[in-house]
Amino acid sequence: KSIQIALDGPAAAGKSTIAKIVAEKLGYIYIDTGAMYRAITLKAIREGINLESGEEAGRLLADTRIDLQPSQDGQLVFLDGKNVTEDIRSQNVTNSVSMMAAHESVRKQMVKLQQILASGRGVVMDGRDIGTQVLPNAELKVFMSATVEERARRRFEENKKRGIDTPLDDLQKEIAARDKMDSEREVSPLRQAQDALYLDTTNLSIVDAASEILKLAEE
Ligand code: C5P
Repeated sequence: KSIQIALDGPAAAGKSTIAKIVAEKLGYIYIDTGAMYRAITLKAIREGINLESGEEAGRLLADTRIDLQPSQDGQLVFLDGKNVTEDIRSQNVTNSVSMMAAHESVRKQMVKLQQILASGRGVVMDGRDIGTQVLPNAELKVFMSATVEERARRRFEENKKRGIDTPLDDLQKEIAARDKMDSEREVSPLRQAQDALYLDTTNLSIVDAASEILKLAEE
């Protein structure tokens, strides 16, 4: 029987890497909800809309198509039909996404879309509010974290592989700032669901973290 797995936690905790492995092993689809918030943020920047205006942000999203498509090299993200998989990872988008994600007008539409994408199938969904808002009835909820130092170190290594060289110190500041905004916003702040299991991955390898979750999924 297929189940729904909600994977939440702060920035750069390894959620997407682990979610991808778990989904593949179980033959489920993987949905990266952060990529969806990044996509609408990219469009807002490109169109020069006021990121602080919930009204403008909501209107923009209502007129936008976001599609996720699995591929060999991971999930592809399409914005109004164009592949933006790389563009949504830019520093510019990363610095602005928490502001866009704080608008109720944006979250309402995103949550609805995410529920439709997950409906009636085996899914591993990662984000900030999956266990609390998007899939409150998910059979398995995991809240993953690691120390901010370790998360910055992982992001640093990941960037290096992509040819990006951001100082470790800057990464740590950016991650901490994003976590603060995501935890302090009024609408669906980053929280561990009451029935979620806490997984500290500071000293866990990717493989070990994934097999921990697979073990829980098979219980
Ligand atoms: O997961 P990722 O770090 O790519 O998410 C980017 C941003 O999108 C987060 O910092 C947060 O502001 C927002 N987000 C959210 N709710 C989700 C997923 C992401 O608010 N479910």
